Amino acid sequence: MNTPALAVRDLSFAYPDGTEALRRVSFQIPRGAAVALVGANGAGKSTLLLHLNGYLMPRHGEVSIANTTLTPATASIVRRAVGMVFQDPDDQLFMPTVFEDVAFGPLHAGLPPADVERAATDALQRVGMLHLRARPPHKLSAGEKRAVAIATALAMAPDVLVLDEPTSNLDPRGRRRLIDLLRSFDHSRIIATHDLELVVEVCTHVLVLDGGQIVAEGPVAVILNDEPLMLAHGLERPHILRHHHPH
Ligand SMILES: Nc1ncnc2c1ncn2[C@@H]1O[C@H](COP(=O)(O)OP(=O)(O)O)[C@@H](O)[C@H]1O
Ligand SMILES: [Mg+2]
Repeated sequence: MNTPALAVRDLSFAYPDGTEALRRVSFQIPRGAAVALVGANGAGKSTLLLHLNGYLMPRHGEVSIANTTLTPATASIVRRAVGMVFQDPDDQLFMPTVFEDVAFGPLHAGLPPADVERAATDALQRVGMLHLRARPPHKLSAGEKRAVAIATALAMAPDVLVLDEPTSNLDPRGRRRLIDLLRSFDHSRIIATHDLELVVEVCTHVLVLDGGQIVAEGPVAVILNDEPLMLAHGLERPHILRHHHPH
């Protein structure tokens, strides 16, 4: 059996105020697969994603990236292997220029200057934003910011990409570009989203989270076509499935 790109075993988490945000969550992402994480607001999607690179350190249960189990001792290795794209790009972009933001990770990983330059240039090119390299990130459009935030993750050459609601706040053209970009990646991907058309177009499998628990998982066409299941967990069957045959 191939080692999965990402494995979560029996992960539970409560916030300090006692909110139980995750309850015994287990799943795996095969290498190269794109998996959607869906669920109503408050289901625990962001909390789960924050455990995947140790922003929240797993205490009850386990997270493994390929063959490395996430612990305080392995966190720096895991963080290089897991590219995180936060829901709000302003949490990710803080340097004076786009280029400095994208170069930040490789620079602080200790790469030599020529490699930093190449990594940042390649990542910006990949997301179609190299022309914005000298611009201040806070002056970009929502779609441009999102693409640059993705470039900051790509610049570290991650094995796994973790994206939290990547199409939120995008206009139709920005959203279309982003969906096409996400489709073009061959990274293992986990994408938390309310955008069920994105799920149909980008992902092969879906995890449904409700009340911190995985209540269903399976191929996109099976899960999203299960109207009673979707409705029971605060979701709806996307219209696109009536005309589109996914994967
Ligand atoms: N910092 C926090 N402190 C306490 N509770 C939180 C915090 N962040 C999120 N929660 C709670 O944890 C649960 C899961 O939230 P979250 O992971 O943000 O869900 P989602 O991303 O699916 O909307 C919710 O009940 C939310 O109110
Ligand atoms: Mg969230």
